[in-house]
Amino acid sequence: MNKYYPHLFSPIRIRNTTFRNRIFAPPTGTRFRRLEQERLFEADKAIGGAAQVTICETYVSSKYLRQTKQVVPVLDDPNDRLILAETANSIKFHGAVPSIELSHIGPYSNKHYAWSPDPIGPMEYTRPDGIHVRAMDEDMIEEAIEDFANAAAVAELTGFESIMLHGGHGWLIAQFLSARTNQRKDRWGGSLENRARFAIEVIDRIRKKTSKDMIIELRVSGDELVPGGQQIDEIKEFALMVQDKIDLIHVSAGIHEVRDTLTRMFAHTTFTEHGCNVYLAEAVKKVVKIPVVTVGGITSPELAEQILAEGKADIIGMARALIADPDLPNKARRGQRDRIRPCLRCNSCLHGCVHRDNFNCAVNPKAGHELLWKTLPTPTRSRKVVVVGGGPGGMQAAITAAERGHKVTLVEKSPALGGLLKISDQDPLKDDMQEFKKYLIRETKRLVPDIMLNTEGNPELMKKLKPDVIICAVGAHPYLPPVPGINGDNVITAVDSFCHPEKIGARVVILGGGLVGCEAALFMAHSGKKEITVVEVQNKLADPIYWRQSDPLLKALRADPRVALLTETSCREITSKGMRIADKEGNEKFIEADTIICATGLLSDRETVESLRFCAEDFHDIGDCVRPLKIMDAVQRAYFAAMDIL
Ligand SMILES: Cc1cc2nc3c(=O)[nH]c(=O)nc-3n(C[C@H](O)[C@H](O)[C@H](O)COP(=O)(O)O)c2cc1C
Ligand code: SF4
Repeated sequence: MNKYYPHLFSPIRIRNTTFRNRIFAPPTGTRFRRLEQERLFEADKAIGGAAQVTICETYVSSKYLRQTKQVVPVLDDPNDRLILAETANSIKFHGAVPSIELSHIGPYSNKHYAWSPDPIGPMEYTRPDGIHVRAMDEDMIEEAIEDFANAAAVAELTGFESIMLHGGHGWLIAQFLSARTNQRKDRWGGSLENRARFAIEVIDRIRKKTSKDMIIELRVSGDELVPGGQQIDEIKEFALMVQDKIDLIHVSAGIHEVRDTLTRMFAHTTFTEHGCNVYLAEAVKKVVKIPVVTVGGITSPELAEQILAEGKADIIGMARALIADPDLPNKARRGQRDRIRPCLRCNSCLHGCVHRDNFNCAVNPKAGHELLWKTLPTPTRSRKVVVVGGGPGGMQAAITAAERGHKVTLVEKSPALGGLLKISDQDPLKDDMQEFKKYLIRETKRLVPDIMLNTEGNPELMKKLKPDVIICAVGAHPYLPPVPGINGDNVITAVDSFCHPEKIGARVVILGGGLVGCEAALFMAHSGKKEITVVEVQNKLADPIYWRQSDPLLKALRADPRVALLTETSCREITSKGMRIADKEGNEKFIEADTIICATGLLSDRETVESLRFCAEDFHDIGDCVRPLKIMDAVQRAYFAAMDIL
């Protein structure tokens, strides 16, 4: 028995397979579709100790594709078998069970190719984008069932030992199952028994076309979380209908087409509690006899252990936690809890792969770049490296350089490490970020013996330290716009507002309604301020591109009667009594306030960068001092700069 997390590390036997622990890596579609990259990304989860690794949504038919064949593997394409076989091997060779998610997206397919037919679904309708969806007739239903079964057979042939059948998130199986999307009058619609028929026939056909050892894990949405959508009571009934046919039931939530539900399905953020779907798994577990998997915002081994110990689920799905740190299972098992790199639940990974076909993780610079970092040369000598700046970028650079055998000194001018991550210290909505800050500080202290706090990294110091390499991570200063009164005693920067809420009066105006300004507004509301006004010159708030973060943030702000959100409004003047603003027509108004929070962005500290540029043989500037961006950009650049020291 594992002495740290006994339930989490107790093996479980399903069919003829023993899983080494209770941590599964659910699919995280990266859209790499480059053999080596996909293989290495998934292999790392197996190397890190997960019991099962499921590769992302693979489509059962190349007729019905959401993305092009360049980005998703398709099981009826013989060219993809090589990719799949190599990936399965890479998971299996490292002791995890290779699993593949089989999906038919039905109505959501797109006409990428000349041969793409119109999408299909249980019902005929016209999508909001004008695409006609055909109601599936008996032949089409039979074809889809056969596609699933053939795909499963190919999956087994290529080495997968487990199938995750996607019966949730609003894809085709879920469409048949839910009365919201299936009002057919024939044997495929109407009663739950009829609506479940498609799923059951798919499962039965898969059983026929695969060996007796093949594990079938059915992923469902325990609650579709939309009016008229499937709810847990029906899912429990459905689970009872299928439990003798499948091996595991995996309970997620939500549907992909309704943004609001994504925060419970894919993109749990800091606005959603950790383990937000556990109650759904628990409800299913109470009625079935097969193992139940829970998923959603479970990022710590403690929570995972607790869920298992309380009998709420049998297996824990950790998707993003294993992107953030694929070694989480091994570290937890060995009692190295403090060394687990925590996931921020920021959804940069999802954002990158969905919107930019560029998968990255905010805290794990290696994720998605395995092909690059695994092939970089190893240093042949130990160099003297001075890292200037103890924010996330500086700490990451120091950690990586030290891990690579260099002699590292970290110089930080303030009394503490952490840099801008200090904004998380008092904000309960930034608890994940706080964990990341603590992790970076712990790792820095563990690996870097020479940390100089309260020390300015200037050319004089460099003369004394004589580094071979300087990594300059000196960050950025708040940008203060040229507005009358901006230097007044009642003006505080957004960063300071997070650190010192006690300095802020009851009536607050926040200048700048970007992500930081809106987060500051919510923090002020949580800190008990009475009137909070956000003044934004553009016609948008927060960061609409990062809507997975912005949506719940704006929802919370709009629901709070103390908060006023003013867009297309500019600041004309700040006085000791408040702020004079003007709308886009130029109509002026005065808002009385005790404190003005300035959230108008950051300016890179280029002066310090340039003063240090020639103080060592090699020099790298990284993070906000190059361009103020996100944590991810700083951490990534830091890691690769340190990797470049040879
Ligand atoms: C980058 C990314 C890609 C994902 N791709 C898929 C996918 O292809 N199929 C799927 O069913 N779920 C997918 N998911 C959802 C995850 O499997 C999981 O249900 C979700 O992330 C919640 O778990 P977590 O909080 O542990 O991350 C994806 C999630 C992420 C973050
Ligand atoms: S990008 Fe953010 S949400 Fe995704 S795994 Fe990394 S830290 Fe977690």
